[in-house]
Amino acid sequence: MCGIVGFIGEEQAAPILLDGLARLEYRGYDSAGVAVYDRENNALSVHKAKGRLKVLSDLLQGGAAVEGTIGIGHTRWATHGAPSDVNSHPQVSQRGKIAVVHNGIIENYAELKAFLLANGVEFRSETDTEVIAQLIEYFYRGDILTAVNRVLHRIQGAYALGILCVDTPDQLIAVRKDSPLILGYGDGCSFLASDVTAIIRHTREISYMEDGEVAVLTRTGIQCYDHLMQPVQKEVVRVDWEIDAAEKGGYEHFMFKEIMEQPDALRRCISPRIRDGEVFFEDFVFDADYIRNIDRIFIVACGSSYHVGMVGKYTLERLTRKPVEVSLASEFRYMDPIIDERTLVVVISQSGETLDTMAALREARRLGAKILSIVNVVGSSIARESDQVLYTWAGPEIAVATTKGYTTQLAMVDLLGLYFARVLGTIQPEEYREVLTGLSELPEKMERVLQDRDGVQYLASQYFNHRSIFFVGRNLDYALGLEGSLKLKEISYIHSEAYASGELKHGTISLIEDGTLVVALGTYGKLFEKAMSNVVEVKSRGADVLALTTESRREEMARTANAVITIPDVSDILLPSLGVVPLQLFAYYVALMNGCDIDKPRNLAKSVTVE
Ligand code: F6R
Repeated sequence: MCGIVGFIGEEQAAPILLDGLARLEYRGYDSAGVAVYDRENNALSVHKAKGRLKVLSDLLQGGAAVEGTIGIGHTRWATHGAPSDVNSHPQVSQRGKIAVVHNGIIENYAELKAFLLANGVEFRSETDTEVIAQLIEYFYRGDILTAVNRVLHRIQGAYALGILCVDTPDQLIAVRKDSPLILGYGDGCSFLASDVTAIIRHTREISYMEDGEVAVLTRTGIQCYDHLMQPVQKEVVRVDWEIDAAEKGGYEHFMFKEIMEQPDALRRCISPRIRDGEVFFEDFVFDADYIRNIDRIFIVACGSSYHVGMVGKYTLERLTRKPVEVSLASEFRYMDPIIDERTLVVVISQSGETLDTMAALREARRLGAKILSIVNVVGSSIARESDQVLYTWAGPEIAVATTKGYTTQLAMVDLLGLYFARVLGTIQPEEYREVLTGLSELPEKMERVLQDRDGVQYLASQYFNHRSIFFVGRNLDYALGLEGSLKLKEISYIHSEAYASGELKHGTISLIEDGTLVVALGTYGKLFEKAMSNVVEVKSRGADVLALTTESRREEMARTANAVITIPDVSDILLPSLGVVPLQLFAYYVALMNGCDIDKPRNLAKSVTVE
C-alpha cells in the first residue's frame, strides 16, 4: 500500500527510483510518479502517470530521460481522490518549491486545506498529501527543516514522507509516524524507502526510522532527529537475506514461487526453535510464573493472519487449556475488550505494519496486557512495539496473497502452544514428542504435497469456470476453509464463502443446486464421519464435491465425493499446515486459468497501512 523511494547520490536518480518502485509494486498501487531536481533549470522535474508503473517508465525511457541525481518516487494506492495523474504523488506546492511523497492518511487535512485556501493557496489535486506540500511552502522562510517541523506539529494521522525542496538540492528529508520508512546507507549515496526490497540492490546497511523521527539525507550520510529535533544516533543493521529472495527466480509468479518455497521457509522457522527435543525460544522474556499467571489469551490479526488465529484458538486451547479468544484487529479496536495484566495478547502479522493490527496492539497495551507478536518482517513496527517477538523467518513475501507467511505463522503458533503446554504441564510427554516430531517432519511432508500439484492443476481445469464456490468443514477444517476461500476469491475474483459445516442446514444449504462446487474439508480425523455426512447432504442436493482429506481416508471419501485430494497423515494440530497447500495451489491455478493478475489482484495492497 503506497511505496516510497528516495535517492541522493552521484548517479542518475530516475532509473534508481523507477527500479525501486518496481520492487515495491507488490504492495499494491494504482498510479506512480517521480520528482527529480533539475539543476539546469533549478526546478523540480515531476512526472506522474495513472496505471501500472510501466506507463511511467515507458514515458521516461526507464528514467534515462530525466536528468538529476536526487529525487523521490512513489506508487500510490488511492485513499483521498480517485486514481489519476493529478492525484498521483509527488504532490508539489503552488510555487513549485516543495515536492512530497506520502504513505498514510492525514486525518485533519480538510481543516488545514480550508486554512490554506483562506490564505490564497490554490490546490490542484484532491489529495491529503498536497496539503502537506502546500503547508511546508506556506511556512517556508528559507529553512526547510524548520518549515517541515512546523508542519509536523499541525498534521494529525499516519504518515511516512519523502520531501524534496528546490532550494536545498543537496538533501532529502524523510519523516515517519505510524507508517514504515527505512533509511539506506550507500557509498557516496543515501536512500529512503518503504521497505528493504526497494534498495537492497544498492545497499544492505539500513536503519529503521522510529515514530516522530525526521532524517536529513545527503550524499555523505544521514542525520536523524527525534520529535524535539534533538540529534539521534541510529543503529545501522545489515540485511542478511539474498537478493534472489525478492526475485521471481524463473517462476512465472511470486505467488507460485512462494508456495514452492514453503518447505524451506518452514525449516528456517522451525529448526532453530527445536533443541535437544525441546521447543527453544532465544531470549524469551516470559518466564514460567508469568505463563502460569495468564488467565486468557487474546489473538488479534487481520485477513489470513486472523485465519491463523482461528486455527491457533484450537491449538492453544487444546495444548494449554487456557481460554483463547480470536478477534479481527479492526473490530478489537472498537469493541471495548475485556483485558488486563493477566491477558496475553498474541498479535499475528506477516508485514508487521498492518495499521489495524498495530492499533489493536497499542490498545491492548494501554489496557495492561503483555504483547507477544508473530511477525515475518524483521524490525517492523509491530515487532518493535511488542514485549516479545517471534520471527517466522519466511523471507520476503512479495505476492499480495500470503502463502509462506501463513504456514510459518501456523508453525510458530504450534511451537508456542507446545512451549506453554510444557511449562504448564498440560501435555503428556508422548503427545509433546509426537507433535514436535511431526513439526520437524512437516517440511518434508509438505514437499510431498507440492509434488502432487499436477493433480490439483487438473482439478482446477475442471472447475475454473464456476462463479460461486463454497468451502465447508468443522473445527480445524472450518478454520482451514476460511483461508482456502480467501485465497481463491482474492486472486481469482470468484465468489466463494467458507462455512462451518454444521451451519449449512441453518441457511446456506438453500444455495446448493445442481453443479454448485463445494470444497469439503475432511482432514480432521475425529470429525471425519460428520464431514462425510455433510458431503452426502450437499451431494444429494446436486453439488459437485471436491474433497480434501488425509491419505488414510482417501478410499472412504472417494466413495461419495466427485474428486479427492489427499495430504499425508499427521497429528491433528498440524493438519491445517499441510491442508492449506492444495488450497493455495487450487486458488493459484484457477486464477491462472481465468487470466487474473495473480501477484497483484485488483484493489488489494500487500501491506495495509491505512484503517
Ligand atoms: C491474504 C492476505 C491478507 C493479509 C492481511 C494481514 O492473502 O495476505 O489478508 O493476511 O492483510 O496482513 P499482515 O499479516 O501483514 O498483518
